[in-house]
Amino acid sequence: MCGIIAAASNRNVGKLLVQGLHKMEYRGYDSAGIALHQIDKIAHLRTLGKVNLLEEKMIAEKPKSKLGIAHTRWATHGEPSEENAHPHKSNERVYIVHNGIIENYLDLKEFLKKEGYTFSSQTDSELIAHMLEYFLNKGNSMLDSMYLTKEKLEGAYAIAAIDKEDDKNVMIARSKSPLLIGVGVDEFLAASDPLAIGQLTNEFVFLEDGDVAELSSESYTIYDAEKTEVQREVTQIDISSQSTSKGDYKHFMEKEIYEQPDAILNTIDGRVGGEDVLDNIFGLGSSEIFEKVKRIQIVACGTSLHAGRVAANWFSSISELPTQTDYASEYRYRNPHVDEDSLLVTISQSGETADTLAALRYAKEKNYLSTLCICNVPTSSLARESDYSIFTNAGPEIGVASTKAFTTQLAALMLLALSLAKSRKINPKLRTRVITALRSLPDTIQETLKLKDTILEIAPEIANKDNALFLGRGIFYPIAKEGALKLKEISYIHAEAYPAGELKHGPLALIDEEMPVIALAPESEIAEKLVSNLEEVKARGGTIYVFADPSITMDLKSGKLINMPKCDFLLTPIIYTIPLQILSYEVALLRGTDIDQPRNLAKSVTVE
Ligand code: F6R
Repeated sequence: MCGIIAAASNRNVGKLLVQGLHKMEYRGYDSAGIALHQIDKIAHLRTLGKVNLLEEKMIAEKPKSKLGIAHTRWATHGEPSEENAHPHKSNERVYIVHNGIIENYLDLKEFLKKEGYTFSSQTDSELIAHMLEYFLNKGNSMLDSMYLTKEKLEGAYAIAAIDKEDDKNVMIARSKSPLLIGVGVDEFLAASDPLAIGQLTNEFVFLEDGDVAELSSESYTIYDAEKTEVQREVTQIDISSQSTSKGDYKHFMEKEIYEQPDAILNTIDGRVGGEDVLDNIFGLGSSEIFEKVKRIQIVACGTSLHAGRVAANWFSSISELPTQTDYASEYRYRNPHVDEDSLLVTISQSGETADTLAALRYAKEKNYLSTLCICNVPTSSLARESDYSIFTNAGPEIGVASTKAFTTQLAALMLLALSLAKSRKINPKLRTRVITALRSLPDTIQETLKLKDTILEIAPEIANKDNALFLGRGIFYPIAKEGALKLKEISYIHAEAYPAGELKHGPLALIDEEMPVIALAPESEIAEKLVSNLEEVKARGGTIYVFADPSITMDLKSGKLINMPKCDFLLTPIIYTIPLQILSYEVALLRGTDIDQPRNLAKSVTVE
């Protein structure tokens, strides 16, 4: 959700800033911009649309500079436009880029207008440039001006600022939005995402909330919330070894779908041994803590919450623990009662989702026994702020629609269900059964990916529709929801999911030949009931596409029955997700949408 990058160097930084924006474009792609210090002036280039348009402008104008800031935007306040694109400036002197939301922006704007500042955008961000200049004009240093500005700001922000009067330094500040420093050779960098600068360095310093830092080409200095100079740990991460290219695939999403056998292997690798899950895989002492857990609360957003809803079934059947799930954005507002010995589990691919982080911070004030996160980014805020964690090891996920992040979250959540059961000394045979099935899961996924040819036959029939219904029962209802979410976010087809038994309580009214119904029918104790639900659809002329266990037979008037590979029932939600991902991808491809960067969306939603 917006990406910011800054550089103070001994070499020309224009190109590296734009390359960094490309790496962060998945965070926001409405507009992009750059401000480059050129001793006597600041070159300021902005474009509506994707980063390659800014790049074209840069190639045409060739601005040279050793100090600069840049931004790729996901609009919150003000439509996507060149005027609303960052960097924002104050009187050709102060230029800033901002990631986050300033909640009291209307009051601050009013104050600055009275002080004679005029606004040229509808954003909440522009006031930061004016506020900094206001304090600079009162004789404060940039460092002091940043602290004085911070005192006024309410909300979340990562900021980078440059001043025309200073061609050496860039000032950065963070509160609740991610920001880090990259330690380069004869240069220091800052970015909201290590991916942006991972080609330039593998040494990162993660700022903490309230921190401000000053960067030049020679050094950096960090100050904490109280303006005391502090040292923060330097973390080594080799980002350049992580694949962030599409290879031979047309889209990142396609690549990430087909990477799932390896991704799942990486999730379970080193975490299971013999016939059981290994101890303390969620951190030292986690196995002991798990002995005490009596209840679980899961909070997450979107796809990650779907994973949580599948896991709630596993925590009940394998770990024998009552589990509640909540949208992270709702959790804090329902005044939750927390029973003694409850474990809070957050799930997030990015680990920077503002709603999930806010829920964790709220929960830490409650009487939870402990907090644990399932996350794909070890350096993320969620990982750093949780007591225990497990990383899904899926590798970078660049496509905005989550695929391998989801299935690896499920694999990690299964490891959690098994670990809880092991600590509680229950269900040893079931644990062994699931471990055996987990080991063969990558092969089963590989087999499932071969369904592509069959899916290619049905994709055109769905691509020309405006709506779709997804049906599942029990543990497959969250998978049906995930299928519907995937289809709507990348193909823009309106899709909803229902537990199949709910159809006759209302949605059946929607069924006609224009409403494709996609159903999940694994072998289960309620398979017959699901088939009866589908008969109700068939009787009303609906076209049904059923992903089913080979034991299930149905005589369909229209649509298709697609046989799924066999797998242990408890892991079937992972397997049944795969054809729904492929279906969404192929439908979106036929509709010609922007698959990796669908309209209005961004990866890593860092605003509440
Ligand atoms: C959908 C999708 C989103 C994310 C949600 C939470 O494909 O990716 O629904 O799952 O925004 O993001 P994370 O998992 O990063 O917290």
